[in-house]
Amino acid sequence: MKKSRIAVLTGGGDCAGLNPALKWVVKTAMDERLEEERGIRYEVLGIRDGWKGLVSLDPMHPDTDQGWIVPLNSDIVRTWDRYGGTMLGTSRLSPYDPKNSCSDIVIENIKTRGIDAVVVIGGDGTLAIATRLAREGINVVGIPKTIDLDLPETEYTLGYDTALNVIIEEVDRLRTTAGSHKRIFVVETMGRTAGWLALRGGEACGAYIILIPEHDYSIERVNELVLEGRRSGARYEIIIVAEGAKPIGGTEIVKKKGVDSFGHKALGGIGQFVAEEIEKGTGLESRSVILSHLQRGGAPSAYDRRMGRYFGIAAIDLVSKEDFGKMVCLQEGEITCTSLENIYGKLNLVNPDIHYDKDRYNGRRTIIN
Ligand code: F6P
Repeated sequence: MKKSRIAVLTGGGDCAGLNPALKWVVKTAMDERLEEERGIRYEVLGIRDGWKGLVSLDPMHPDTDQGWIVPLNSDIVRTWDRYGGTMLGTSRLSPYDPKNSCSDIVIENIKTRGIDAVVVIGGDGTLAIATRLAREGINVVGIPKTIDLDLPETEYTLGYDTALNVIIEEVDRLRTTAGSHKRIFVVETMGRTAGWLALRGGEACGAYIILIPEHDYSIERVNELVLEGRRSGARYEIIIVAEGAKPIGGTEIVKKKGVDSFGHKALGGIGQFVAEEIEKGTGLESRSVILSHLQRGGAPSAYDRRMGRYFGIAAIDLVSKEDFGKMVCLQEGEITCTSLENIYGKLNLVNPDIHYDKDRYNGRRTIIN
């Protein structure tokens, strides 16, 4: 029987859904019945801490792995789909970071360790690296993950559904204290430059106002809406603000200056800024809550377990067909795949003309026109 070696890694921000995908990559690759059909026996190596694992291996000693490589099998991953985060660990290290370029080491380590294909579970940054490695002849297959849902060519990215559930759980919790004190609560969600988490989370939790990065807001209009709500008898308001939202003529608020090795800003603080502006403009008591990494934590939802399973299986289907340079994806409700080149350097952002009520700063109020 022909033998082949697959490596699998999770890169970038962790989220729920990564472990179900890891489990099904391993189970599908090492399934004895499928092995017979394929005529290939796969060995699966887990790479620790994303690209950092492949950078940290010593290319001069291919017989060593210094703990960066974990041989996986169905017994080891049996229960992984029940847990959040990633059992392999991750990092935000980019081998193509101009300040510390080391992609040649990654390519060397993949070759010297006899790795025939790499399954890469990641978001825009991690999959961009996979695309560049594919251009340099490395066999890669991508699995889309990000709570931001900002990857193009796919209707779903792992972690998004679980993050949405965190938003509704925390907002349901906040409603009791907001109602008791007749306060406005501004809840800041993650999402980088995409408003999907804020918009869908806000729609699901029944937020009064939702501010997204794709449509700059006027604080005067926000205050008008808040006062209108109070005049109509509302005791409190829940306002959802995406971390990348910004006022008309203003800029994003960042937690710290500079960018990470993927070129991403550290967004954060807009929630407190909006709460202060509302209190100043309306005289109504306002508080802010930043949900931050709560949205990335915890056990995967049923949907993330299912999608992790389907994406994991589909990734190995592509490997076994030697159909490389692709990302598995969800299109028109079906699991399929697309070229990594189709997503390289692009983002899937909210189109306010379709999905947003620009007058009332909320989800659309008509759907079938
Ligand atoms: O891309 C996922 C994400 O959670 C973004 O929504 C957020 O801006 C960023 O990662 C936070 O990054 P870190 O975990 O490095 O603070």
